[in-house]
Amino acid sequence: MKKAIVFTLFVAFLFACSQSDVEEGTTSTPAAASVDGGKIYKTYCITCHGLYGDMGASGAFNLQTSTLPVAERINVITNGRKVMTPFKELLSEEKIKAVAEYTMTLKK
Ligand code: HEC
Repeated sequence: MKKAIVFTLFVAFLFACSQSDVEEGTTSTPAAASVDGGKIYKTYCITCHGLYGDMGASGAFNLQTSTLPVAERINVITNGRKVMTPFKELLSEEKIKAVAEYTMTLKK
C-alpha cells in the first residue's frame, strides 16, 4: 500500500514536472496552493539548514547548491538520511511535498 502511494506521488511529480515548463499558471500544483511550504520550512528545517538553506549545522547539506530533484528531496525529508531526522511522523505527505518544493526555491 505504502509503495503504491509513493509510486503515485512519483508519477504525479513527473507529470507536474513535464507541465511546469509551460509556465502559464493554468496548472498550478495543488499541494503548493493549499499548504505553505515556506512556513513548514521555517518551523522544522532552519535549525539545521538555516533560513536560506546554507547554514549547514550538524553537517546539513547546502540547499542552495543541492541539485537533488524534488522526488529525491521528498524521499530524504520523509525517511531522513544520516543525521537528518525523518519527518514522516511529523508531516503529512502533502506537507512534505510542499516543503520539498519550497527547498527548490532556495537554489541560487
Ligand atoms: C537535525 C538537523 C536537520 C534538520 C532539522 C533537517 N535537516 Fe535536512 N539534512 C540534514 C543533514 C545532516 C543532511 C545531509 C544528510 C547526509 O549526510 O546524507 C540533510 C540533507 C537534506 C536534503 C538533501 C540535500 C542533498 O543535496 O542531498 C534535503 C533536501 C533536506 N535535507 C531538506 C530538509 C527539509 C525540507 C527539512 C525540514 C522539513 C530538513 N531538511 C530538516 C540535517 C537536517
